[in-house]
Order: sequence, then structure tokens, then C-alpha cells
Amino acid sequence: MLAVHRFDITDSTNRIAKELAADGAAHGTVVIAKQQTGGRGRLGKAWESIPDKGLYCSIIVRPDISIQRYAQITMVAGLAVAKVVDEFSSKKCMLKWPNDIFFNDCKCGGILTESSSLTSDAESRYAVVGIGLNVNSKLDDFPMELRETVTSLAIENGMSFEIDELLFETRDRLLVELVEFKENGFVDILEQWKEKDMLCGRHMECVGFDGKIIEGIALGPDGDGQLHLRDCKGVEHAVLSGDVRLARKETRHSE
Ligand code: BTN
Repeated sequence: MLAVHRFDITDSTNRIAKELAADGAAHGTVVIAKQQTGGRGRLGKAWESIPDKGLYCSIIVRPDISIQRYAQITMVAGLAVAKVVDEFSSKKCMLKWPNDIFFNDCKCGGILTESSSLTSDAESRYAVVGIGLNVNSKLDDFPMELRETVTSLAIENGMSFEIDELLFETRDRLLVELVEFKENGFVDILEQWKEKDMLCGRHMECVGFDGKIIEGIALGPDGDGQLHLRDCKGVEHAVLSGDVRLARKETRHSE
């Protein structure tokens, strides 16, 4: 039986999951909260956790793979969540590199994967896959500045969903995809991921850590999970990390 740690309110399920993982919690252990006061997103951003209306969970995984392959877990997780969303939703979602869930260029979910130190021995190595999904929220639940760029499963489908059903499907799907990844490698995952790539062929920009913006046409992720784009001079760039978005002239909504 896989453990599920439930909280009415906490700062961040990822923080708790990392503590549990460091104390030896098993592969597949889940931490879920109805509300987070300090939900964390990628690149130091905050994650807005509307109380009782979203899936806010962290899943501890300990796949038996080499350290080098750990970085790819984040895209495996994105694909797993996208498959679950598609099972529940009448509209199909898209993925924005590296692992955001989108409908019609509006964000419905995101994933923050945090790994143990890559020097840790194989026994104690883990990754925490933190998943935030807007499930039953309405637009006016969100702060004004986010309303042009967010969506939820309820908004897209005109109905509400059982958050626990989504939780268990997500955990089980993630564990299945990790077995596929371990046994068949990243190529199969990448092929499926690319079918849902919302950026490919579109005009995008990437903001680097130094604030410098690279603009170009998205070419999709490569076998290492890096996103490629070609700028207006024809130069190809590979992005390992960074804030990636549609270029302003491409957005349906102002950002
Ligand atoms: C992103 O879009 O940048 C990633 C968002 C990840 C949010 C989830 S909510 C559950 C888990 N706990 C956190 O603090 N963050 C993740």
C-alpha cells in the first residue's frame, strides 16, 4: 500500500515530500494538500494554490536509473500528467516545455521536479515530482493579473472534477511511465511528448538567467530534453533551463 500524507493546509507539499524522502519514504509516496501558503513553481516563481479547488501534490519517486537520466524525469512527469488530464477532459491539453499543461495558450498546470543531490548514493537517491493542477477554479478565483493567462479543467469542460480521482490516476500513471522510461529509454517518451508540444513551429522567446531574451521559432526538445529554437539569423540555440513563452505577437492574450 503506497502512503498518502494529507494536509488541509501547508506551505509547500514539495518541502514536506523532500523531508520524507530524506528520511527514507518509499517510491510512490504522496503528499497532498487542500491549500498551500507557499506553493513553489519553477525558476523561483510562486504557485497560486486556490484553496480546495486544485490538485496540489508531490510524489516521491526512486526510479532505478542512472544519475544522468534523472534530469529527464521532469518531462516523463509532464507526459504522465498530460495523459491523465486527457483521460478526464473532453478537450485535449498541450505541453509547454519543459512540462506545463496548457489549453488554448492558457496555463492549467505545472510541475516542479526537485532531486536529491546527484552525488547521493543509489539507495538514497530520489526525485520529488510536485504537481499543481487548476481543477475546479473559476477565473475570478485567481488574482486579476493572472486571469488572462490561466485556465482550469472546470473552465475548459464546464463541469467539476473529483480531485482525489485525479490524484490516484496521476500517481499510478507517473509510476507506469517511469517503468516505460527505465525499460525503453527516453526516445518513446520524447516521441509522445512531441505530439503534444504547443510551442513547436511557433514564434517564442526564452528569458535566460541574465535577463537576456532569445527569440526564434521553436524546433522542439532534443534527446537530452533541451529545447531548440532558431533565431532570425538562422542560428540554432539549445535551452537547458529558463523561462520560455510565446513571443508577444503570438499570444492570444496580453501577458
Ligand atoms: C510551475 O508551473 O512552475 C510548477 C508549479 C508546481 C506547483 C506544485 S503544487 C504542489 C507542489 N508543491 C509546491 O510547492 N509546488 C508544486
